[in-house]
Amino acid sequence: MSRLDTQVAIIGAGPAGLVLSHLLGRAGIEAVVLEDRSREYVEQRVRAGVLEQGTVDLLDDLGLAGRLHREGLVHRGVLLGFDGRRHRIPLSDLTGGRAITIYGQQEVVKDLIAARLAAGGPIQFEVEDVELAGLDSTRPVVRYRAGGAAHELHCDLVAGCDGSHGVSRRSIPPAALTVYEREFPFAWLGILAQVAPSTDELIYARHERGFALHSLRSPEVSRLYIQVAPDEDLAAWPDDRVWDELRARLAVDGWTLAEGPVLEKSIAVHRSVVVEPMQHGRLFLAGDAAHIVPPTGAKGLNLAVADVRALAQGIAAWYRTGDTAGLDGYTARCLRRVWRVQEFSTSMSTLLHRLPGADGFDERLARAELDWICRSEAAARSLAENYVGLPFDD
Ligand code: APR
Ligand code: PHB
Repeated sequence: MSRLDTQVAIIGAGPAGLVLSHLLGRAGIEAVVLEDRSREYVEQRVRAGVLEQGTVDLLDDLGLAGRLHREGLVHRGVLLGFDGRRHRIPLSDLTGGRAITIYGQQEVVKDLIAARLAAGGPIQFEVEDVELAGLDSTRPVVRYRAGGAAHELHCDLVAGCDGSHGVSRRSIPPAALTVYEREFPFAWLGILAQVAPSTDELIYARHERGFALHSLRSPEVSRLYIQVAPDEDLAAWPDDRVWDELRARLAVDGWTLAEGPVLEKSIAVHRSVVVEPMQHGRLFLAGDAAHIVPPTGAKGLNLAVADVRALAQGIAAWYRTGDTAGLDGYTARCLRRVWRVQEFSTSMSTLLHRLPGADGFDERLARAELDWICRSEAAARSLAENYVGLPFDD
């Protein structure tokens, strides 16, 4: 058994764990990241790709946004499709110039890993059997196996950044947690396609056949989604069927959807989860380990970044002055944003999807809301403010 000592043990090398490692590094705090997958796996995993203004600003501030600025696509509006037409929400005009940037989550992850390793920050990939102990003590221990040998990492604090299936949340006694959950009666079938996007800005479309989304990754690669049933079998969706459905749901007169080879295809169910509190003893949960939002608002990564920003501030203040206020208030500070985003993502999902059992009344309510967003600047601004992301509260 080998023993290692550090200040903060970070479980998980997703956006939450990696951004936290950089924020702590900048504050002169030592941290070790433990990740159960391989570097190649986490760098290839296809996820969402919309970065809020605040996320881009934070990466910029950390000096990690070089490639993001070269390759990311800045978008100043989004399109809502319904009733065979499209309406543009001018995000930047409505939010004092804020914008979103399209840049795949796995590209963010690649940049963060490369920079962290280059700075000499330890990231241990392919660890197994991670266990957390002594969370109520002043010196917790993380036990794990790597390369066939047993290891112990002794630390002051543990950051549980290991996503929704990780070990961190499970290490908190169930009686100490309340889990708020909601399953949505639909899923997204997503494809990554080798074809130039047929749109300059994201299209969120409501259609009687179900929701569709045209997103982008680069001038050569498109990302598209359609609403399917939660128990849908991927095998029932050959590429042609996916394209037929996308064409039907995104259709407007005079516009054609360009098709190309499908590089990746998967189905993701829609779920909401919030765990309260987000901390227990010396363990602090961040990102998907603490909450999941439905993907309609593209908020998962951005919420993870907001969490670790608050956590890093609390940790840095504690090391600097011994003041525990930031750490004590971590949950309350995060949950305010988490529930705002949960409400926004749920409303946007409900508005744009076709719910099983929905009747003419539901249909008309959705149309009335979309019509209102088109006619009222206040309604459009509310959507835009949420979509580009709330500024960080300091
Ligand atoms: N030990 C170590 N690492 C683990 C363990 C474990 N027991 N279990 C899971 N992990 C790793 C996963 O392999 C993954 O790399 O933790 C990481 C968690 O990363 P993400 O799932 O990406 O979660 P997070 O960093 O919170 O990022 C938020 O936003 O777009 C959304 O859901 C999307 O990934 C997303 C996220
Ligand atoms: C994506 O590009 O993957 C994407 C875009 C917008 C969303 C969700 C996902 O709301």
